[in-house]
Amino acid sequence: MDDQHDSVRAVYWSDDALHLLDQRRLPAEEHWLTPPDCRSVAAAIRDMVVRGAPAIGIAAAYGAVLAARERYRVDPGNWRDPLRRDLEMLRQARPTAVNLAWALEHVNASLGGLQGDPEAALLALAQEIHQQDVAANRRMGELGAALIGAGSGVLTHCNTGSLATGGYGTALGVIRSAWRHGKLNAVFADETRPWLQGARLTAWELVRDAIPVQLVVDGAVAHLMQSGRVQWLIVGSDRIAANGDVANKIGTCTAAVVAHHYGIKVMVVAPASTVDLRTPCGADIPIEQRSAAEVLQLAGAPVAASGAGAWNPAFDVTPAALIEVIVTERGVVQRPDTEKMAALMS
Ligand code: MRU
Repeated sequence: MDDQHDSVRAVYWSDDALHLLDQRRLPAEEHWLTPPDCRSVAAAIRDMVVRGAPAIGIAAAYGAVLAARERYRVDPGNWRDPLRRDLEMLRQARPTAVNLAWALEHVNASLGGLQGDPEAALLALAQEIHQQDVAANRRMGELGAALIGAGSGVLTHCNTGSLATGGYGTALGVIRSAWRHGKLNAVFADETRPWLQGARLTAWELVRDAIPVQLVVDGAVAHLMQSGRVQWLIVGSDRIAANGDVANKIGTCTAAVVAHHYGIKVMVVAPASTVDLRTPCGADIPIEQRSAAEVLQLAGAPVAASGAGAWNPAFDVTPAALIEVIVTERGVVQRPDTEKMAALMS
């Protein structure tokens, strides 16, 4: 790895196998899994072994390699249709992050041109998707950091770093770059209940990469912003609609509304693969509902009154009107709207 502020990778392919760092066990334990087939990859995505929009797209592309291996071995004369069914099964693993569908559409589009054993060609495609994501993150890191004034404080939500992407990160990539350029005097991460991506994952990554971080509870966001300690809220996205509305981890909209109130700028950082022009606006984005147990328990131990129910939407939608800038590898969009998003993607 090339520098002290970028040491983590959570998804890689080696020795003919996919390797996934089990994010459910962090920060207590660094435990790696090698899913043997595409069904195990789909389960790993569903169960949050691997999570974060770009990372699940990349993992699914490697999952397609495992599927192709199996289908070609079973019937070298008829692997395409069964493989397409496997791709659909992978696509359904999580509904909100469009990067998953995007990566699998690329795999699907490549199938028609393949002759003989498809494994090597699909592996090359998965590796290309992976490498392009890292390159996009580095580019976004520079573009986003350039917008941040010296001596700034930033708040981030969820985990958008190397764990959530092919490497480097989206919002956390901007924070890495801004830190490297000496622009930040404070980095805050909120805990991100219920799954604690901020406390367990973002803090783990930043500590490992020698970037000082202070955790705040989710309920401290308004007080933090009121205190003058942060000038930017910097977040990632799971899907950006055609009008610039942004789906991201539950709690993002809360933080953005508060940021708007206190005049703190909101930066959304996401690769072009997160922009979904086929979804007109935020209300059309499917929001994943997850198990009530994630709210009622913490690390498997009950924290709520026995008998209470829970509603657990995993994402929310921040309206474009609350967003100062969307940063992609294609460039930045100030105050996004339908026209500007279309121009970006054209
Ligand atoms: O449920 P998760 O942990 O997969 O949610 C992740 C997020 O919401 C991230 O902010 C988003 O995927 C952008 S990551 C680069």
